[in-house]
Amino acid sequence: MSKTIIISNRLPVQLQISDGGLTAIPSVGGLATGMKSVHSGGESLWIGWSGLTEEDTPPALEKDIDKALKEHGCAKVNLTAKEIEGFYFGFSNRTVWPLFHYFMEYTEFELDFWDVYKAVNQKFADAIIEKSDENDTIWVHDYQLMLVPQMVREKRPNTSIGFFLHIPFPSYEIFRTLPWREEVLQGLLGSDLIGFHTYDYERHFLSSVRRLLGLDVSFNDVYLDHRVIKVDSFPMGIDYKKFRDAALLHGKNIHEKRSDLQVKLDDHKASAPDTKLILSIDRLDYSKGIAKRINAFEYFLNKYPEYKEKVRLIILAVPSRSNVPQYQLLKKEIDELVGRINGELSTVNWTPIWYFYRSLPFENLIDLYTSSDIAWLTPLRDGMNLVAKEYIATRIDKTGVLILSEMAGSAYEMNEALLINPNNFEQQADTLKAAITMPKEEQMARNMFLQNRLERYNVEVWANEFMHALNKKSEGDDDAFVSQKMSPSILNKVTKQYSEAKKRLLFLDYDGTLTGFHKDPQKATPDDELYQLLDQLHNDKNTTLFLISGRDKQTFTKWFLDRKYNMIVEHGVWISTGGEEFKMLENVKGEWMEKIKPVLESFVDRTPGSFIEEKNYSMAWHYRNTDPDFGEKRATELNTVLTSLIGNDGISVLNGNKVMEVKSSNVNKGRASVRMMGEDNYDFIFAIGDDWTDEYMFQELPETAVTVKVGLKKTQAKYYVENTKRVRELLKEFTMQ
Ligand code: ADP
Ligand code: G6P
Repeated sequence: MSKTIIISNRLPVQLQISDGGLTAIPSVGGLATGMKSVHSGGESLWIGWSGLTEEDTPPALEKDIDKALKEHGCAKVNLTAKEIEGFYFGFSNRTVWPLFHYFMEYTEFELDFWDVYKAVNQKFADAIIEKSDENDTIWVHDYQLMLVPQMVREKRPNTSIGFFLHIPFPSYEIFRTLPWREEVLQGLLGSDLIGFHTYDYERHFLSSVRRLLGLDVSFNDVYLDHRVIKVDSFPMGIDYKKFRDAALLHGKNIHEKRSDLQVKLDDHKASAPDTKLILSIDRLDYSKGIAKRINAFEYFLNKYPEYKEKVRLIILAVPSRSNVPQYQLLKKEIDELVGRINGELSTVNWTPIWYFYRSLPFENLIDLYTSSDIAWLTPLRDGMNLVAKEYIATRIDKTGVLILSEMAGSAYEMNEALLINPNNFEQQADTLKAAITMPKEEQMARNMFLQNRLERYNVEVWANEFMHALNKKSEGDDDAFVSQKMSPSILNKVTKQYSEAKKRLLFLDYDGTLTGFHKDPQKATPDDELYQLLDQLHNDKNTTLFLISGRDKQTFTKWFLDRKYNMIVEHGVWISTGGEEFKMLENVKGEWMEKIKPVLESFVDRTPGSFIEEKNYSMAWHYRNTDPDFGEKRATELNTVLTSLIGNDGISVLNGNKVMEVKSSNVNKGRASVRMMGEDNYDFIFAIGDDWTDEYMFQELPETAVTVKVGLKKTQAKYYVENTKRVRELLKEFTMQ
């Protein structure tokens, strides 16, 4: 039976050796806590690092370790201390983590880290290959393993691979500073589906793919030579029921069963019933804005001194990545800040901040969530932030106020919370006051919406939606294509039709079909191999070959006239047969061109890298050499301007491959190719092309025609081939019949 393989650096449990034996402690962090619920429910194997280095592991314990992990449905990847240093503390947490959270000043670009990162990613990929079958579905998680999808793809080209990034994907301006940016993108693109928490992260990723790899992106599909990768946002939920049930049980706990922490919290409440508890829980990480929050708390107490002795801030900071210097400095900074503020403001009856630096058991988290009047979470940047969701889920009576940073992914879905900018102390002080004084009815009204949404979009739904999209993709049940790949068996069928036909008609587009694109269109000249191929096709007495292009007649005259090929240019304005001069095929007028030209020129001025190609009866604005995002934006703008300008004047705008062409409406390749069929009885009609202008042929030629699109794009053609190399191979097959 096929299974799902979950793969992440961190497993849901971490093993520790104490007194010669093993203990498994639950992992902290959004990935582990969220995926744990998904994993426990289904048929999956979770592969990751056990938490022990090879050096720490006595050989005698190997078997016990495997057994302990197996009990949790897990299997380990062994890592040495050196690997952990370069891969985990190094590239993952001194390069990617700060960079992707916009902390450029903390980002280190070390070649050694990168080398180890690659080697360790390969180890994870090898472990997947070893422990899975071809039919298993692979789900890779997070920034520590961004190269794994491509590494697995190389060995298992047909396996279904999904990737989910649990942290932000930064804007192109940040991402492009990474020296190994192309490799990272290519690693991720080994997946079939790439998921992010928010649409913004998805947008940033697609922008980098377009700009750095120059790949075509249409909506949320990335087109590689022979594959389409889907990119989408799936905001991660929590195990709502688990938190809710825990809170319900907590509410029922009789006095004697309370935890020590709960006793302390209850005592506090009893001694100062009108004091509000403000809670913050995070891993001790600079991205969480803990130090700023403490400063903002001091600011609040100074701005609204009436709340001194009336509020208490509880900070639970969970130790994290303590080998990384920035985390050590942060720990020191927070210790000092808490010390200073408590020293300066405490009274006999009141300590403003209670600070815990430790990992608490789940029950204690629930104690804190249920006992606090306000949760105050101020990350400077956070992929999602599940703590915000967990706090709301535990509020059984619907009271409680959530103050949440706009910079957290969860803020997109939690509009009813009080959203703040963590850098704005003024706003935070006022928001704290508003939270403290918020009427219960308002708290309940806000939380009702939040709870309903969290319950509906829980972690199980999140995982199911991701897996559903991945399965849909791998079953090919995906609306990106309407054509079929030209497989060897289809090619056989087509060449058989070709060889049996007595009278054949072929339409071949030039740019992007017979030859690749060039920055300067005049340099995309035909090569010897192409001439030979076309000569062979053209010289077959049973075949009528047409080159059909949007090019101008001067260029094609120069390249092909002496070969005597039949040619249709400017999308159907001109025709030349058997080596004769070009004649007009369509009667078109060009007066409109003088009006349109200044518009195109203004776009050239405003879009570096773009230029105008003037033909006899049409004008094209090329934007292949512009910044891809910017070029697309300008093209959309130009389209709007032109459409409003031309009205019903018999002129139309064609959107080609990085080119917009304005021409007479009655001219297109479809009309031209149909005219060429005339009254003749062709028993094999074939058309091949790569862009929108060729769609007219695919649409208008008879149903029996063999129509082929070059590249994986939406099309009306029956078949597609991946690239120009395949086009030539296909045509070569024809010549061999
Ligand atoms: P991140 O993934 O960056 O750590 P999140 O807020 O998304 O941030 O996830 C933190 C997760 O870790 C939450 O699910 C939370 O319940 C869990 N967690 C936080 N503190 C503790 C703790 N002291 N003990 C156990 N789990 C914790
Ligand atoms: C974040 C990351 C996870 C990571 C977790 C805890 O949630 O997205 O990948 O596991 O933090 O960090 P750690 O370094 O302890 O695994």
